[in-house]
Amino acid sequence: MPLVNAKEMLTKAKAGHYAVGQFNINNLEWTKAILLTAEELKSPVILGVSEGAGKYMCGYKTVVGMVEGMLEELGITVPVALHLDHGSYEGAKKCIEAGFSSIMFDGSHYPIEENFEKTKELVAICEEKGLSIEAEVGSIGGEEDGVIGMGECADPDECKLIADLGVTMLAAGIGNIHGVYPENWPGLSFETLDAIQAKTGIMPLVLHGGTGIPDDMIQKAIALGVSKINVNTECQIVFAEATRAYIEAGKDRQGKGFDPRKLLAPGTEAIKAKVKEKMEIFGSVGKA
Ligand code: 13P
Repeated sequence: MPLVNAKEMLTKAKAGHYAVGQFNINNLEWTKAILLTAEELKSPVILGVSEGAGKYMCGYKTVVGMVEGMLEELGITVPVALHLDHGSYEGAKKCIEAGFSSIMFDGSHYPIEENFEKTKELVAICEEKGLSIEAEVGSIGGEEDGVIGMGECADPDECKLIADLGVTMLAAGIGNIHGVYPENWPGLSFETLDAIQAKTGIMPLVLHGGTGIPDDMIQKAIALGVSKINVNTECQIVFAEATRAYIEAGKDRQGKGFDPRKLLAPGTEAIKAKVKEKMEIFGSVGKA
């Protein structure tokens, strides 16, 4: 099946009280692992590409070529959206041109008026071209220069303002942060999530920073209106751990264990297992 935008899969997720996972990709192994798992579990999936990962993979056109090629060659039948993660205004336009099926414009660091204007313009372009678009209100914390921000809570009125522009999905800060959560993290603010949902109605909400959020909080967030959950760091950690174990066991020095197809296999399998675990928790298995 060719790439699809994320609208239909998220509308269904919202109605069915489950969430679709966005798993960020970093290279061919990542992409293959996620697509094969989604197909095996008959789950819709969103492949996330940050601007940095896009650059690393030799640009957005390369990413589109790789993903489209895999959909065909692997015979993927489940709905797959290729989505820019935390895009700048310029990055969003580049991805639209390159053939992505979905974009995120993250204008959360702008004053709300500027976020509003830029999001509005991109909504019009995406509508015309048939892409889905995610906007963000209230920045999502994370590590910056060694300092871990605790994650801001979005203003529900600002969320309504941006939701009413006709975005497909809305990311709103509810105390979530990217990367591993610090010991003293107070948890998600369900009060904020509830208030945002009350103002935005049927708008699918997006939970960033999916790594390390306890399962019960994930379930509660889904019950309160979250329909898309982003996961990146957890896949990176399990990939690194599996690769380390392979090398520490000296397997790269046995026979042709140095062959990259062998060396990268344990990490690839580890990503598959992690994606499977997440899809089961999110409830998207069998929903394709
Ligand atoms: P984690 O790296 O914390 O899983 O967050 C991923 C994310 O939100 C990408 O936008």
